Amino acid sequence: MKIAVVGTGYVGLVTGTCFAETGNQVTCVDIDENKIEKMRAGEIPIYEPGLEDLFLRNSNEGRLQFTTNLAEGIEGAKVIFLALPTPPGEDGSADLKYILKVANDLGPLLKDYTVIIDKSTVPVGTSEKVHAAISKGAKVPFDVVSNPEFLREGVAVEDFMKPDRVVIGTKSERAKEVMNKLYAPLVRQGNPIIFMDERSAEMTKYAANAFLATKITFMNEIANLCELVGANVDDIRKGIGTDSRIGKRFLFAGIGYGGSCFPKDVQALAKTSLENDYKFQILDAVMNVNEQQKTKLIPAVQEFFGNNLKGKKIAMWGLAFKPYTDDIREAPALYNIDSLIEAGCEVHVYDPEAMKNVQSVVGNKVTYCKNPYECLQDADALLIMTEWPQFRTPDFDKMESLLKNKIIFDGRNLYELDQMKEMGYTYYSIGRER
Ligand code: UGA
Repeated sequence: MKIAVVGTGYVGLVTGTCFAETGNQVTCVDIDENKIEKMRAGEIPIYEPGLEDLFLRNSNEGRLQFTTNLAEGIEGAKVIFLALPTPPGEDGSADLKYILKVANDLGPLLKDYTVIIDKSTVPVGTSEKVHAAISKGAKVPFDVVSNPEFLREGVAVEDFMKPDRVVIGTKSERAKEVMNKLYAPLVRQGNPIIFMDERSAEMTKYAANAFLATKITFMNEIANLCELVGANVDDIRKGIGTDSRIGKRFLFAGIGYGGSCFPKDVQALAKTSLENDYKFQILDAVMNVNEQQKTKLIPAVQEFFGNNLKGKKIAMWGLAFKPYTDDIREAPALYNIDSLIEAGCEVHVYDPEAMKNVQSVVGNKVTYCKNPYECLQDADALLIMTEWPQFRTPDFDKMESLLKNKIIFDGRNLYELDQMKEMGYTYYSIGRER
């Protein structure tokens, strides 16, 4: 099938590359000339494990092409994915200007029946707006389908190729047939394609992200309480996660959720709710708790140093909002850097992938280290912000020889309490005994 993908951000590039891998002829369209130029030269603009191999193979074999020209990009395409940004506007609601601009431009360019697919996370009712915008200029029949994406950064290729489910919002039988054909190679193991109306599909995406953010936040509050009553959140996680009604995943307490999706989508859903005269009280609580959770370790750091952090050298391991990504959007590390610098600390950071992105935001307010151990030289304490695997089994002897004090503030619960006690560390983690 001939496919066009408009927008080559995270979702667009993964969608385009993976559909090329399943044998389709894909053209990716973006207004960013520099980016398109680089992709044509075989350079992939994002870090995502496993994507580069597919990107290069499909580009080399001619199934994946790039252009800045919308008309050229959609020529002959049976389906057009819209994978454009929906940044939060000033009031927290998703801004649709990019999507509607492309929808307006598309109308007059359509030459034959086409399925236009909203892949971005968009507020309920967007597919109708996109339909209206395309209708203004269209002279041929078309359908607008809502097909939200559930992939996680870091495991995007696997999530895309083996989705738990595919959600398709459309009432058109003609569009359903096209979508069934497109997704058939990805659902061969029996994972379902769930058809529903457009509004329900749009709502499904927000409900999924808001539910997961709530699940994490609930565990963060249980963790906060565990510290006060002397319980261990790891045991609680195992104790409740084995109940199949609750499930094992997304129960890890820590320094809050971040990234480009959960914070933005929870906020947008709360906004949609208010616009419909309904106060979604759980979501307000989730947002408030998460805000506090991000810098939860700072009071403990303050307390340990007698409320005087002036001139203290703090080592920070991990900057990305989660492992296997260079994404620092809404990353708890950034909030901690701000708090520590404000308190007078000198901060030395290391992250395997995200340092370039952090440098573009905080500049030289922090010192960037070549490896995790360089950060520790004469450091008064270590703070852990991201659970990169390489931090899980470090060389503790080497750490001890470098650190000024044997103290770790761990926002991701990487180590066992017994192990730390045995080695003589003062160890602060989340939801566990201190
Ligand atoms: C999330 C969803 O998981 C995807 O299904 C969805 O498609 C995507 O948003 C999106 O809307 O595009 P992502 O933001 O890539 O994916 O990252 P997650 O792996 O879901 O992690 C989100 C945050 O939750 C991270 O900050 C992570 O550290 C935190 N988290 C996750 C916890 O604190 N505890 C957990 O147990 C799990």
